[in-house]
Amino acid sequence: MTSDNNKSLSNFENFLLNHFSFDSKIECPILVDSMKYSLFSGGKRFRPQLIQLVCEALDIKPSDYIPFAAAVECIHTYSLIHDDLPCMDDDSERRGKPTNHIKYGETTALLAGDGLLTEAFHIIGKYYTNKPSIGLKLVQLLSYCAGPQGMVAGQQLDLLNLDDKNKKNNDDFKINEKSFSAENILMIHKLKTAALIKCCAEGAAIIAQVSPDKQYDISEAGELIGLAFQIKDDFLDFDEKNPEPCNLINLIGATRTQEILNDVSNRAIQLLEKSKIKSDSITELIQFNLNRSK
Ligand code: IPE
Ligand code: IPE
Ligand code: MG
Ligand code: MG
Repeated sequence: MTSDNNKSLSNFENFLLNHFSFDSKIECPILVDSMKYSLFSGGKRFRPQLIQLVCEALDIKPSDYIPFAAAVECIHTYSLIHDDLPCMDDDSERRGKPTNHIKYGETTALLAGDGLLTEAFHIIGKYYTNKPSIGLKLVQLLSYCAGPQGMVAGQQLDLLNLDDKNKKNNDDFKINEKSFSAENILMIHKLKTAALIKCCAEGAAIIAQVSPDKQYDISEAGELIGLAFQIKDDFLDFDEKNPEPCNLINLIGATRTQEILNDVSNRAIQLLEKSKIKSDSITELIQFNLNRSK
C-alpha cells in the first residue's frame, strides 16, 4: 500500500471513530462500547480497502466513498459478532482477543450486532442525502448482498451443514452428504463471504456512475476477489483433526484448492483489466490475500 492509501485509510478510521462517538447522546453506553470493541479491534479492513482502491482507480474522492466503506465495515463487524455466538460458531477468541459475547455477554453481543447492522443503513441515509439516487442504489445493493439472498443465506447454509446443536427440523434442508461437492461449497462461499466483497466493488462502480457493462464486470471481479478471500480462509482454518464439511481442502485437497484459488484470483485481475481499471494496487490487494497469514 502506498502512503496515499494509508492516508485515505486513516481518513476512514477517523470517519468511523467520529461517527461512533455518540456515547454521550445515548443512555446506553455499554451498547456503544460493545460495538466499538469489535469495530476497532484490529480487523484487516479488507473491504474498505477494496472500496478505496476501486474508487481511486475511478477517480472518486474519499468523502464520496468513505461513508459507504464505513457502512460495509459495520455489516462485516456485526456478522463476525453474531458468527462467534454460542448458537453459531461458539468461538471465544477473535483477532487474539476475547469475542464480543465473552467480554460483554450474549445479550449485549447480540444487540451490538443488531446495532451495527442497523447503523450501516443510517450511515448511508445520512451521508448520501446530497446524492439520493446513489444512496438509494447503495442501500439496495448492500441489503441484497448482506441479507437473505447473500451473506445471511450463506451463514444459514454453512451452519446447517456444520451444526449438531441446531438440528431441530433442519435435516430436510441439509445438503445431502452424497451430493456434497466443490460446487456446493463454492456456492456457500459465494453467499457467505463473496457477496459482501462483491458489494464493495459494485458499490464503488455505483458511486462512480460507470456504464452498466463496466459495473457488471467490476461487480463480477469483486465476487471473484471475495471467493478468493474465503478460499484463502479455508487454508487458514483447515484443521486435519477437526475437518469442517464446508472447507474445500477437506473435500478436494490442498493442491486442487490452491489451483482454484489461483484461477479465481487471476480471473479477477483479467476482468479488471478488461474494465480498464488501473489495477496495480488492486492486484497488490489480490496478491496480499494470496499471501496473508490471518
Ligand atoms: C473474516 O473476515 C470472516 C470472513 C468473512 C472470511 P476478515 O478476515 O476480513 O476479518 P477481519 O475483519 O480482518 O478480522
Ligand atoms: C465468518 O465466517 C462470518 C461470515 C462470513 C459472515 P467464518 O465462520 O467462516 O469465519 P471465521 O473463521 O469465524 O472468521
Ligand atoms: Mg461461521
Ligand atoms: Mg466463525
